[in-house]
Amino acid sequence: MSPDSTANPAMDVDFQKMGIYIDGRTKNELDELLAAKKDAEITARDLYGFSCMHYLDDGPMNEAASFFGLSRDDSVDTDAPPKKILDFGAGFAGDARVMASEFPGCELTCVEVQPHIHAAAERFTALVGASARCKHQCLDIFNEPVVNAPFDHLFSVLVILHIPERDRLWRSLAATLKPGGTAYVEDYFAARPLTDEDKAQLAGPVACPYLPSREEYERTLKDAGFVDVRWETMNERWAPFVSSRLAKFREARDRNVRVHGEALTAELDLFYSTVQQLFARGNLGGVRIRARKA
Ligand SMILES: C[S@@+](CC[C@H](N)C(=O)[O-])C[C@H]1O[C@@H](n2cnc3c(N)ncnc32)[C@H](O)[C@@H]1O
Repeated sequence: MSPDSTANPAMDVDFQKMGIYIDGRTKNELDELLAAKKDAEITARDLYGFSCMHYLDDGPMNEAASFFGLSRDDSVDTDAPPKKILDFGAGFAGDARVMASEFPGCELTCVEVQPHIHAAAERFTALVGASARCKHQCLDIFNEPVVNAPFDHLFSVLVILHIPERDRLWRSLAATLKPGGTAYVEDYFAARPLTDEDKAQLAGPVACPYLPSREEYERTLKDAGFVDVRWETMNERWAPFVSSRLAKFREARDRNVRVHGEALTAELDLFYSTVQQLFARGNLGGVRIRARKA
């Protein structure tokens, strides 16, 4: 990080080398979708595949909904106030829109630091008519308060790996939750000592400049006021997923070049192959964390 990183630490990370964040990818996919379906007919599920930037499809969202006690039944307790969920680092907000559309007892606040991703996410949410229960804010949590806090639940998938100031971050996240509020997080950690090759790949195409060990991670959570921490190592499920994601992307090369062009296809291939190599070597760990703020 640069010496003046406290001015805007979240944006100090270099996102420019990450293919999946390049402006235009989701617009290309939306144009492809609109060639087959009228915009008035598009649902949150139609946008889901290219909006989500994590593993195991809607697995994280379903696990979180179950952990948060959300129900798909729209006849249940319609007078109860909706559960307020912060999706921290929502990206293109695939999960938040589907949660808002399919779980009637909740409302989502999506926080995203990159303006072009925030703007695209907000447009997609409006397109499917989910704006009433899925709100968007573009901000750096270290510098600005999250409107709508405090929340009942925190949901954050593959975001924290981008932010090296962990003590400060986890304290900031804890501050957005009500006492007793719950957190569902998916993230990376250093399962074994990282090699120079791991570090270079993480810092480059994955924009991940720092990773703690499990012990460091759990200490940070405790210091930030989280209890009942359940740690679920995901490598056995994530390694085959990222491998098959790369294989499918390469099988569809002709389609990808037609939709995205050669340059973006090459950037995406670099990103998917880098992640596949990191998980194949196995020093990089993946984790699901469920925890409660004391
Ligand atoms: C790998 S993507 C995951 C997005 C989404 N959670 C998902 O699973 O599809 C990580 C997202 O976190 C965002 N991000 C990174 N640092 C952030 C920060 N400090 N505050 C908010 N969002 C951040 C990135 O811009 C990116 O959109």
